[in-house]
Amino acid sequence: MCGIIGIVGVHSVQERLIDSLKRLEYRGYDSAGVAGIVDGHVQRRRAAGKIRALEAVLVADPLNATVGIGHTRWATHGAPTTRNAHPQTAGRVTLVHNGIIENYADLRDMLKAEGRTFESETDTEVIAALIDFELGSGKPPLGALKAALDQLRGAYAIGVLIDGEDDLILGARKGSPLVVGYGDGEMFLGSDALAVGPFTNRIAYLEEGDYVAIDHKSAKIFDRNGAAAPRPVRTVAASAALVDKGNYRHFMEKEIHDQPEGCQRTIAAYVDTLTERAAMPGGVDFANLSRIQIVACGTSYIAGLLGKYLIEHLADLPVDVEIASEFRYRQPALRADALVIAMSQSGETADTLAALRYCQARGMPSACVVNAIESTMAREVDVVWPIHCGPEIGVASTKAFTAQISVLTALAVAAARARGRVDSAEEQRLVRVLLGAPRLIAESIDLEDAVKAVAVEISKARDVLYLGRGPMYPLALEGALKLKEISYIHAEGYAAGELKHGPIALVDEQTPIVILAPFDSYFEKSASNMSEVMARGGQVVFITDPEGQRHAPAGARVVVTAPQCDPLIAPLVMAAPIQLLAYYVAVQKGADVDQPRNLAKSVTVE
Ligand code: G6P
Repeated sequence: MCGIIGIVGVHSVQERLIDSLKRLEYRGYDSAGVAGIVDGHVQRRRAAGKIRALEAVLVADPLNATVGIGHTRWATHGAPTTRNAHPQTAGRVTLVHNGIIENYADLRDMLKAEGRTFESETDTEVIAALIDFELGSGKPPLGALKAALDQLRGAYAIGVLIDGEDDLILGARKGSPLVVGYGDGEMFLGSDALAVGPFTNRIAYLEEGDYVAIDHKSAKIFDRNGAAAPRPVRTVAASAALVDKGNYRHFMEKEIHDQPEGCQRTIAAYVDTLTERAAMPGGVDFANLSRIQIVACGTSYIAGLLGKYLIEHLADLPVDVEIASEFRYRQPALRADALVIAMSQSGETADTLAALRYCQARGMPSACVVNAIESTMAREVDVVWPIHCGPEIGVASTKAFTAQISVLTALAVAAARARGRVDSAEEQRLVRVLLGAPRLIAESIDLEDAVKAVAVEISKARDVLYLGRGPMYPLALEGALKLKEISYIHAEGYAAGELKHGPIALVDEQTPIVILAPFDSYFEKSASNMSEVMARGGQVVFITDPEGQRHAPAGARVVVTAPQCDPLIAPLVMAAPIQLLAYYVAVQKGADVDQPRNLAKSVTVE
């Protein structure tokens, strides 16, 4: 996926930009490009395909610049052609970009009405044109950048050159990471620590919403409100750069914050952003499939359960989901015309692998949704649907979970279309909703302070109950699992409708009850469950959205208000608050968050 490098130097940047881009190859890409300021003006060199194609272009036409930006592009808006490769230029502005701009079509129309023309199909060119438009109204570079950022809706990281400014790179991040590298008389910008690794190990990680102006000596960082916001400069070992914790205390905290980017990269792999269609590679004939059998363990199993809700609801395609260790030994009734999908972050979980092989031995076609693409499962299935969230280090899964759900959501849309359950206009609407998820996940992560306050209370509890209906039921299971895993507090996830069949007996003043209830078709029912709990003195932690807050039962204490969203992506948007809750409870209790006792990241034995 897209990688970004920027160098404001005193020596030639061409070879160093290429060196850095090669280090970013691991992210996957299909075109590459660089730009630099030569005699006061920006020049670009771009090529479709591998970096060696770009190198050939540079041999024929070198870039003699001391300030430059480079990019590896993984196509989202527009085919992987030279014309669509980054950097993209509009007027005085040339930029590289990682992410998705959701409102690019509206912005492009607005700019076209101002007489501007566009030469690529990318959303990136629209950002360049917007900044140039703002420069044209007399704003200085930083003011033009900020004015443009205020109009963008989406998740992104950018690096910007401006014609005539030969000691300046601008950058901004929202949802996608960006780092500033501090060199010796030179400064750097990168999409991760690895990008700037060859030049410096002194790094500042930009925070959500930050933007920055870099010259060869210094970086001026501003927060989302435009206030100066110096970020700590840390020394990062080059070998550890890929799995560095950044500004976070724990990998789990970092991985929770990685989710907008992880989901964006994953969603981009399973939808065509130009046609707004879902596109599941692998040639599975969803129209004629009789059933899907999902097998998995742990958090991957819960992602599979969410997949069942999504796929059955949208595509009317039956889905069975089963814990792999049960499935493999109980002689389940299988059909050769069903598809088995193994869900696994590691691709090595022993029970999931055995369940997968069990199905394959009975002639079933197979697929896996996996993070480790070199894993045993990935090698053994007919179709691999990778998640693209990067390595997950924290034992308790977070970003792999939302990336798995992203794949299953795209799958549900693709299957619905193939089975004639949605028309193309509805498919496009759903894809647009899905593309908006990374931004809303980022907003949901922003609720951190509200969640932290709740965590202080929950850390005193001995038992915690999580309740939800519909897709919030699997999420209640995940909330309880996360809490158990890292804080060692006993927790149960329940379908809220089951409250009267047992868990209500647990309700007392000492047991916090986390109710997950966005304002969806289940809301009224969940609200009555909440009233039942409150009537018995139960302490409700209500996680909802603004509409849910408005309609909350009298006396309910709304604790966390996640952003309003379409029900399609509610599981993605509501996941962060429950992950953060478990995280801050564990931190409050002083537990070893990344290495909880007795647990392993990859369970390769039964
Ligand atoms: C272990 C991990 C969990 C994970 C589960 C399944 O229990 O601690 O975080 O969800 O294994 O792992 P997989 O790699 O198959 O997703």
